[in-house]
Amino acid sequence: MNPAHTIDLVVLEDYAALSRVGAARVAELFRAKPDAAVVVATGNTPMGLYRELAAKRAARVFGPGELKVFQLDAYLGLAPDDPRSLYRWTKEAFLDPLGIQPQQVVKLPGDSPDPAAACRAYDDAVVRAGGFDLAILGLGPNGHLGFNEPPSQPTDKTRVVSLSEASLESNARYWGGQGRVPKQALTAGMNVLLAAKEIVLLVSGAHKRDVLVQALAGPVTPDLPASYLQTSSKVTVLADRAAWDEHG
Ligand code: GLP
Repeated sequence: MNPAHTIDLVVLEDYAALSRVGAARVAELFRAKPDAAVVVATGNTPMGLYRELAAKRAARVFGPGELKVFQLDAYLGLAPDDPRSLYRWTKEAFLDPLGIQPQQVVKLPGDSPDPAAACRAYDDAVVRAGGFDLAILGLGPNGHLGFNEPPSQPTDKTRVVSLSEASLESNARYWGGQGRVPKQALTAGMNVLLAAKEIVLLVSGAHKRDVLVQALAGPVTPDLPASYLQTSSKVTVLADRAAWDEHG
């Protein structure tokens, strides 16, 4: 497949710069479109950006009152107040610091009695919002986006997935051991993510270097879901020098 679009790759000196530049970009979009629909990742990488964004909100650079925020992924079977709940993480890192109200949030309810129906309801809510204006994403060590594990097709909808060994391993560091990581998850689908009007992918650290090269310059393949970003219309990759060293 021929990449239809060019990815805008911005290489920053370090994680602090990545977070600052990312927050400036997101705040600019929120100013331009105060009722933007945004889907936000958890994971370690966006935390600096969210802190910077909260400072901008406190300084009234933008107002959060009309934003619509979508949860990106959720472990199956966990209640929202479980310490490992990705909703809880989203709430503590993004929703509360930005002053986003519950009625502005579309959850992926990991503890729904009918997760498949909950996924359909989520996709319906994305359609009602007119699609995502912005997706703030991280890069899984195996090239996953959200929990769209390899292999994932660009047409895959929001759904329940089984986590790969690589994801169980990488998520273990969040919760103090692999035994504490649920084995299944709900993830926003590839189709709604790739259709976002703007995607900001944040990548930090030398451990992401190989997978980032594959995602941006390797073949577009279901085996590396992030490679489909090469086919998406407006993608900005913010990487620090550890993750993308032009000279290395
Ligand atoms: C996790 C999450 C993703 C996240 C990615 C990278 O498994 N499901 O949403 O973006 O992996 O995480 P980190 O930023 O901690 O490297």
